[in-house]
Amino acid sequence: MSDGKFYITTPIYYVNFKPHIGTGYTTILTDVACRFQRMCGKQALLTTGSDEHSQNIADLAAEAGVAPRAYCDGIIPKFRDCWELLEIQSYNFERTSDEKHHNLVQRFWQRLYDKGDVYKGEYSGWYHTSDNRYLDPSEVPENPESHPRLKFLREDSYFFRLSAFEDWLLAFHEANPTFVIPDFRRNEMLARIKSGLKDISISRTSTDWGIPLPWDEGHVFYVWIEALLTYMTGSGFDLAAYEKTIGADGVSSEAREPLWQTERSDLATQPETNFWPMDLMVMAKDIPWFHAVIFPAMLKSFGAPLPKQMLVHGYWQFDGEKMSKSLGNVVDPYDAAKIVGADGLRYFLMREVPAGRDGNFNFESLIKRYNFDLANDLGNLVHRTVSLLHQLFEAKVPPAPAGDDELDTQRKKTIDAALAAYEELRYSDALQEIWSLVRLGNQYIDQHKPWELKKKPERRDEIGAVFNRLLQAIKTVVLLASPVIPGAAQRFWQILGLTGTIEDQREAALCEPIAAGHVVAESEPVFVRVDKKVLAAASGGAKDPGAAQAKDKAKANDGNKKDKAKDKAKAKDKVSAEAAPDGPISIDDFAKVQLRVAEILSVEPHPNADKLLKIKVHDGERERQIIAGIAAWYQPDELVGKRIVIVANLKPAKLRGELSEGMLLAADDSDGKLGVLTPDREVAVGARVK
Ligand code: MSP
Repeated sequence: MSDGKFYITTPIYYVNFKPHIGTGYTTILTDVACRFQRMCGKQALLTTGSDEHSQNIADLAAEAGVAPRAYCDGIIPKFRDCWELLEIQSYNFERTSDEKHHNLVQRFWQRLYDKGDVYKGEYSGWYHTSDNRYLDPSEVPENPESHPRLKFLREDSYFFRLSAFEDWLLAFHEANPTFVIPDFRRNEMLARIKSGLKDISISRTSTDWGIPLPWDEGHVFYVWIEALLTYMTGSGFDLAAYEKTIGADGVSSEAREPLWQTERSDLATQPETNFWPMDLMVMAKDIPWFHAVIFPAMLKSFGAPLPKQMLVHGYWQFDGEKMSKSLGNVVDPYDAAKIVGADGLRYFLMREVPAGRDGNFNFESLIKRYNFDLANDLGNLVHRTVSLLHQLFEAKVPPAPAGDDELDTQRKKTIDAALAAYEELRYSDALQEIWSLVRLGNQYIDQHKPWELKKKPERRDEIGAVFNRLLQAIKTVVLLASPVIPGAAQRFWQILGLTGTIEDQREAALCEPIAAGHVVAESEPVFVRVDKKVLAAASGGAKDPGAAQAKDKAKANDGNKKDKAKDKAKAKDKVSAEAAPDGPISIDDFAKVQLRVAEILSVEPHPNADKLLKIKVHDGERERQIIAGIAAWYQPDELVGKRIVIVANLKPAKLRGELSEGMLLAADDSDGKLGVLTPDREVAVGARVK
């Protein structure tokens, strides 16, 4: 569509259970699509929401002794909190129990009733109270009476003449071969349509929790039939205004024929804020029938413009088994995010499987991917480049060399391939493309050995060119990966010393080089490697292997929102802290000091100072060197292997010509004794000290 808008939806989730990895996956996927479209300059709208009129909710509310809507009020914040945790940038949350939705649903179906596409009959069958649907006779188990979720229902019902749309649906799918992706899902839908369509029941009398039929208040709409219309409720579409454009022949003066060719830009009566029809509906393989068959037929009957595409993704299982509440193996996104952060989880879910296929979630794979791809590959690339630039070029980007070398060529190739993959919703492919550049970047550093500059000053121009190319490549990587890892991308953006937010960058920024002379900021750990012990617990199949170090990791990896909030709080506290430096400090002041457990790898005397030791430590994420004035108290060998506490965010400084990146904590008493602080039991390297 050419109107600069993009409209995408998740299914409207049932709120009888809190969000999990499966619902999180769909929502992250739609957020990645939105972020990508925004990067391409589009105005993107994501509608998600709560599907509330199910029998399940009515039953749960009755058990809890509250009204169904009040029951939903209690669950919805869990969804909102989870979407915040998962860095869902902005979305529109629609509740099917809102009046706005009721009005739209009633207006919509009234027209179908008036046209004669709805008629009254009787319905009976086994009804699944969790899935909110009648079972097809072929699905009824042997003793349905003993099944806790099945009820035999016989009721008066109104029916929608779905069977009348069989030919139209076939023509629609034929003319729009990419309406359902992937292809094999499309084929499944086509085969089912071809096997014959039955009219569907659209109303219930067995409950009053629902939207009443405007022409017969004794019935409420079958939940599915109205939930689908939430996509329209959330789109800003003025259904009444559109309906007025429909003539006696059933054709709108604004629509094109065939109806599916109608574009948003054709809808002259619609307000500026309208996003209907949607560009993409995303869902798992459980519900494409409603979206590929029933919904288009409903819209055709009304005469309304049709969505452009739907993506049917696979199911996430846990350790090879279907996730289910009763098996107790439903993965909570918080359990994953507290180990690898929201970005780590988003990266894993988008990278692990192509969207159409099933995925298997387990913590071992999650942690491995995080450690390898994010902490090792990307984290190291940025850290090595930025640290070396500080050491060798005073943090300034050297001049751009003439012509392209292999890194530039790969960078350009990656841009094209990743953009194409994003556009085609192949996010796993997009990430693979981006990471081929990351890996080449690391190899490039190894090959060119820029650290040799200290001993070979004659290589200055050549090594300068290496850094220039590396920085352009890193900027490209950070921008391209930002729809998937937005929080980390923002932090890398700041490390590169670039201004503005990454979310405000447009596609054009991919081709804008970082200028020569630009000064990069200090490097800092963005992805803190997950410790071996957590990995071991994960390999043992623990559902929540990260519980122990959870909080620290979540904090270390968390995106910017919380940091921003903290910054504000810190700014507030600054005044009082500065006014009373010897008085009490606030917890936020204390929080500014990042204390972390590190392991001593090697110790040698300082070449230029007797009192100092040159200590190499590993801080859980990387190696660093610390210069400490403890030579009078410790023999170098005594210290190796000890776990100590370091100040991890101290500005690096040169002490007698040697770089010191942090300091270690030691206590000295009035008798002149000194002891280096160590945790009194073994805690993981990298653990935060609070
Ligand atoms: N309320 C209906 C949808 C109405 S849309 C008009 C519904 N709700 S649901 O809460 O059951 O959500 C189903 C959707 O959640 C799936 O289509 C998928 O998007 C997501 N997932 C639920 N479990 C999942 C997995 N295990 N794996 C992947 N996605 C999963 O159906």
